[in-house]
Amino acid sequence: MIKPHGSEELTPKIVNTDEEKESLLKAAESMKKLKVTSAAAANLVMLGAGYFTPLDGFMNKDDLLSVADNMCLKSGLFWPTPVVNISNQEIKFEEGEEIAIIDPNVDGEKILAIQKIDKIEKLEQSEIDDVVEKVYGTKDQSHPGVKTFYDQGKTLLSGSVKVLNFSYFEIDFKDTFRTAMQIRASIESKGWKNVVAFQTRNPMHRAHEELCRMAGERVSADGILIHMLLGKLKPGDIPADVRDTAIRTMVEHYFPENYVMITGYGFDMLYAGPREALLHAVFRQNCGCSYLIVGRDHAGVGDFYGAFDAQDIFDSIPDDALLIKIFKADHTAYSKKLNKVVMMRDVEDHTKEDFVLLSGTKVREMLSKGESLPKEFARPEVAEVLMKHYMKG
Ligand code: ADX
Repeated sequence: MIKPHGSEELTPKIVNTDEEKESLLKAAESMKKLKVTSAAAANLVMLGAGYFTPLDGFMNKDDLLSVADNMCLKSGLFWPTPVVNISNQEIKFEEGEEIAIIDPNVDGEKILAIQKIDKIEKLEQSEIDDVVEKVYGTKDQSHPGVKTFYDQGKTLLSGSVKVLNFSYFEIDFKDTFRTAMQIRASIESKGWKNVVAFQTRNPMHRAHEELCRMAGERVSADGILIHMLLGKLKPGDIPADVRDTAIRTMVEHYFPENYVMITGYGFDMLYAGPREALLHAVFRQNCGCSYLIVGRDHAGVGDFYGAFDAQDIFDSIPDDALLIKIFKADHTAYSKKLNKVVMMRDVEDHTKEDFVLLSGTKVREMLSKGESLPKEFARPEVAEVLMKHYMKG
């Protein structure tokens, strides 16, 4: 199986034994506490679940600036996006101390992790601006990822972490949330050698379905890993439980048995387009996948990125940055001429009028207006799941 990123083995930061967990929780009673942002909590879940192998914890200022500038840590390790704990609270602890991190996303002031505070560094406004511009390609606060980054504050708390649980993900999405370790183990036990990963934050409309099918066929995959984001999204995006049901329904009806694994990961969407596509590749490599599908406007939002910027960025990174390969998908649409979903570059005889364009945004728009989804957009079984959700809302 493909090796994890920058490491022979996964390096999950989850505390495995009950004994160690208990002793850390006991020790935490006398530690100072810090409730972190949802973004930092999501980073902890990813670190805990092995997805962010080989990182040890939160980045310091040198690494953060280096990641923004050159997409690598000071050590030279390729890494495309910040993994940071930034706070706007009054800091009551010192460098060298261990602190208990409180989960902002569950009730009861539950401890999510222990962080060894390596450095406490103030970020200048100009440094934050620079990081945001480089990672998101814009400083416009109407971009949801940019706004979230600015809202975090200016105090950067770096250091290694020990993660105690997987927050609400392991409870609310018991059947879908999986760690990178579990995914590798499942791939191994199925005997799959060549696996294509599909990133999604949407219920799967027909272009998504066909992208998986085409990618699987064209790279002769043994199986497809559908890997959905389970964390926070911008308002208007479809909630994870509804997406989960829709995706399961689609796979059950339209894919052969034992060809698709439906899984999810606990992370908030960054909407960082090209940079997030690179991060997606890093953590699908960590899951043991050989390919990641990158299509039109991958991880994008609004008009902030060019339709294929998230593919082009892979041509600009060093050859040895990643082992995983990208399946570059062209714009996929429904052909009225052929009565099926096609990749536009495959049907040269078509004109614009021959296509029905499919996008998650369009699907959401139609649903929120109470319009039913035509067969060109969604499978009828999937449309039913989605329409039920919108009628409730
Ligand atoms: S994402 O933010 O998670 O990337 P989404 O769930 O919509 O959003 O997309 C999942 C994957 O499908 C991405 O690689 C995206 O580029 C691709 N994709 C979605 N719709 C299309 C389409 N009509 N044509 C080509 N690729 C698409």
